[in-house]
Amino acid sequence: MKPVKVGVLGLGTVGGGTVNVLKRNAAEIARRAGREIIITRASAKDLNKVRICDTEGIILSADPMDIINDPEIEIVVELIGGGGVVKDWILKALENGKHVVTANKSLIALHGNEIFAKASEKGVIVAFEAAVAGGIPIIKAIREGLAGNEIEWLAGIINGTGNFILTEMRDKGRDFDDVLAEAQALGYAEADPTFDVEGIDAAHKLTILASIAFGIPLQFDKIYTEGISRITRLDVEYAERLGYRIKHLGIARKTPEGIELRVHPTLIPERRLIANVNGVMNAIVVRGDAVGNTLYYGPGAGAEPTASAVVADIVDVARALTSDPENRVPHLAFQAESLSDILVLHPDNFKTSYYLRLCTEDKPGVLADVTRILADHNISIEAIIQKEALPDETLIPIILLTQITLEKEMNAAIAAIEALDTVNGKVNRIRLETLENK
Ligand code: NDP
Ligand code: HSE
Repeated sequence: MKPVKVGVLGLGTVGGGTVNVLKRNAAEIARRAGREIIITRASAKDLNKVRICDTEGIILSADPMDIINDPEIEIVVELIGGGGVVKDWILKALENGKHVVTANKSLIALHGNEIFAKASEKGVIVAFEAAVAGGIPIIKAIREGLAGNEIEWLAGIINGTGNFILTEMRDKGRDFDDVLAEAQALGYAEADPTFDVEGIDAAHKLTILASIAFGIPLQFDKIYTEGISRITRLDVEYAERLGYRIKHLGIARKTPEGIELRVHPTLIPERRLIANVNGVMNAIVVRGDAVGNTLYYGPGAGAEPTASAVVADIVDVARALTSDPENRVPHLAFQAESLSDILVLHPDNFKTSYYLRLCTEDKPGVLADVTRILADHNISIEAIIQKEALPDETLIPIILLTQITLEKEMNAAIAAIEALDTVNGKVNRIRLETLENK
């Protein structure tokens, strides 16, 4: 059979890794795909830059349109990132009848519905395994491996940079900014690292995961998002003393009232495997009604781990080139006409447990006032710790763990607690998930 000709847009961390993996493993990949796969063209912004990959034998160009308009290219691999003109390039590639492989989660989360509609119209594939959790084949696992299940919930560490920062801060006491700079140097971080730190990147990924898990359209705007920038070393220490680790999780859960979609720091019991996922590693727990809990673990970012997912997609597309477009695996796991309009819940209606830390004056009755407010909002306390005042300080830290509560009740209780004369400053609230089999 004729080799499949591939054009790569972007030769940075992931693009460079993809060229290296495809070249190094060419023979093995050809045995899997049933034909040779060769990169004949690639584009980058600065053609004089030193690359992590060997571009010998590849025609380089600064204009992605040279690749998109080349009739010889069957698969366009987009590894530039971002939206705007990149979206236009992808739509043009689809219009030209090219299959597209991309690692661009923001593009899929924000514009995937439009992109998949165009791909279906043109009978071509858009593959995006690398867009979620780097090298972990989580899209394929949910879309194909768990196709017999009703997915009940999933929860994952889905940003490598954020987990790397939290781990280094906890284990080595390093400063936030210092670790972020290292994550950038290692090629883990997004072009705009606030996407990693403020949970936006994780929200892009959760948008995609929720869609393929529950058969709903991509709805990035419905995701509740909190980042890691407000986690303090004090909270990490108190959580650990209570038997928990703080991880930044993306959570999608089907409830009788609707679907919860949320990204935020979370206390998890330290005995859970996912609580012990460190550094740039990602992990996702997916619960299906038939299989129960399953766990997927691996590197969440970096050149070759991400290239592993990109190349797997290229192989999938190469295998499907001759297949009937009507009978391919649907982009979002469910047939496009069968997507559900099930309600995505407002954050007020989330149900979870909480860790609360507050600073109070050392006076009789303070704790009673706090517990009375919680009781007035139907919030049951699971554990309570009152610490001694720190040296040279008169204020006393109180740490509370609650049972599962409606978020709007918790918001009202926190407002009432903060209004007490004896409570100083804001209540620090972190959600808590046991990730039990329910
Ligand atoms: P990089 O910044 O390392 O690479 C981007 C590449 O795009 C560069 O080669 C750059 O050229 C090229 N480029 C930028 N603008 C243009 C343009 N106008 N025309 C042509 N080429 C252009 O990004 P990453 O490799 O880290 O990320 C790529 C994608 O993969 C993003 O969507 C990202 O979210 C995603 N991703 C990244 C992961 C990671 O670990 N880094 C993991 C999973 C997904 P030049 O080199 O000349 O500047
Ligand atoms: N910036 C992303 C992360 C890259 O750190 O997880 C992988 O998607």
